[in-house]
Amino acid sequence: MNLAIPDYRQLSPAVAARFERIRQRPVILSIQDLEKKFGTDGATHTAFDNVSLDIHRREFICVIGPSGCGKSTLIRIVAGLDEATGGAVLLDGHAVTGPGPDRGMVFQGYTLFPWLTVRANVMFGLEMRGKDTTTAESEAREWLDMVGLGKFEHAYPHELSGGMKQRVAIARALANEPRILIMDEPFAALDAQTRCQMQSYLLQIWKKVDVTILFITHDLEEAAYLADRIVVMGANPGRVVEFIENPVPRPRSAAQFLTAEYLSLKARLEELIHPPTETGEEDRLPMVKLTNVGDDVE
Ligand SMILES: Nc1ncnc2c1ncn2[C@@H]1O[C@H](COP(=O)(O)OP(=O)(O)OP(=O)(O)O)[C@@H](O)[C@H]1O
Ligand SMILES: [Mg+2]
Repeated sequence: MNLAIPDYRQLSPAVAARFERIRQRPVILSIQDLEKKFGTDGATHTAFDNVSLDIHRREFICVIGPSGCGKSTLIRIVAGLDEATGGAVLLDGHAVTGPGPDRGMVFQGYTLFPWLTVRANVMFGLEMRGKDTTTAESEAREWLDMVGLGKFEHAYPHELSGGMKQRVAIARALANEPRILIMDEPFAALDAQTRCQMQSYLLQIWKKVDVTILFITHDLEEAAYLADRIVVMGANPGRVVEFIENPVPRPRSAAQFLTAEYLSLKARLEELIHPPTETGEEDRLPMVKLTNVGDDVE
């Protein structure tokens, strides 16, 4: 059996053609030489710098990187919830200076209003934008159908599972018709099986809706399953270490987890995110001893 793993940069003609089509679409979000420092002079801490990225219409971008490399800070700036200390973020060519309905957000923690029904949660943003109750109700129902929760429109958040709550959060974000959906580890708190279901739900929704997605995750397999391009960040200071065009063709399925393209991508992601830490000296007794029983063998 030949176990040689191909180069992850080797794209099949169909996948290469898809990337060519994506590149020809307009840029929705442009992140230009972005930098974020925390603290005052004396003790500044660079969360990240030199981050540049153009995201094209309907592209699905995943950002991965070790804890503390600045992923959440980066998307808080894109969302307009925080300010950069250098560089710029442009949405459809206009500088982002604060939050707006053109960016939908879904976070890891459940953020639904517990005192409102599922439908009222989705209607909230629509009414804030001036839609009358009848229109907001019917649009909210359509979005709930889209995420498969039409039957739960009158339920309250505490009556839903974690996965269902996140589906409502996605419906609520999409109901505002954002240009870009920004998701910060939205499935990280879910069990493994629900997480897989949510990933495939998200791909089905994305197939039907003209929306661009910027998705943060710790999970390499999640990024490999979802993304067109994967932005790999490194820490201290946070910065982009590699942009990877996902060689796995669409439509994606669990069966692809055994294909050569998938394994080549996974191997590269592992190499970048989990570099080897063992030194080969692990067989020797360690210097730090917790007992003194005199049974040393070396
Ligand atoms: N409000 C803040 N004040 C000071 N430092 C901050 C603040 N927010 C974030 N940081 C620092 O910025 C860096 C990036 O944090 P951030 O939360 O963006 O990382 P992350 O990549 O999202 O991590 P994780 O994977 O754990 O969610 C960290 O070193 C963090 O301590
Ligand atoms: Mg984070």
